[in-house]
Amino acid sequence: MSRILIYIVPKFTTFDHQNAGVELVFATHNKHKVREVEAMLPEGYTLKSLDDVGFHKDIPETADTLEGNALLKAQAVFDATQLPSFADDTGLFIPALNGAPGVLSARFAGSPPDAGANMQKVLTELSASAKRDAYFLTVIALVNNEDIYYFHGKIAGEILQEPRGTGGFGYDPIFVPKGYDLSFAELAAEIKNEISHRALAFNSLIDFLSRT
Ligand code: IMP
Repeated sequence: MSRILIYIVPKFTTFDHQNAGVELVFATHNKHKVREVEAMLPEGYTLKSLDDVGFHKDIPETADTLEGNALLKAQAVFDATQLPSFADDTGLFIPALNGAPGVLSARFAGSPPDAGANMQKVLTELSASAKRDAYFLTVIALVNNEDIYYFHGKIAGEILQEPRGTGGFGYDPIFVPKGYDLSFAELAAEIKNEISHRALAFNSLIDFLSRT
């Protein structure tokens, strides 16, 4: 019997960070996020913020998926700079609310964004619902020439009956990650930053960059 082995070799040849060094742009104005990711990058990569590359336009997040919004941002910055660019987008998804707040997480209770009002809206809509499972999902889109790559990070948990804790931001006080008793706002920042949706998505991006 003869066997045919097929190897699928991915086309990862676009990032020549070993020899030439590669500049990447993180499509965010959040300097804290940029420094955090910069510290994780493998050798040969340099990270630029939007300020570093002089990109000051506002990019409206008009897509109806996290992937779509992350791509809008990364593509706009790639088009302007011709440098490999990536962007992230995150949402809290609650199946009992048909996936809300989801892609609208930042402005669930209206504009301008108000974390307290957003949490209150979630608690009101869930009211006494026994089904309180939820998850955070982060999507990163990386654009380089014709190539688009997506990286995902997800953490499951439960929505509390009322907010607990003062750390973190956004929906942290009402979200308890699976396997923990404390809310994201009660957990030490180092723990949240290790297990979070965002950490998982960025680890996946870093892993990809290390292999290419
Ligand atoms: P962004 O895409 O990172 O700007 O996140 C969109 C919205 O999701 C934020 O405005 C928050 O309301 C919510 N969010 C994102 N990440 C977290 C988190 O780690 N904890 C709590 N809420 C978050």
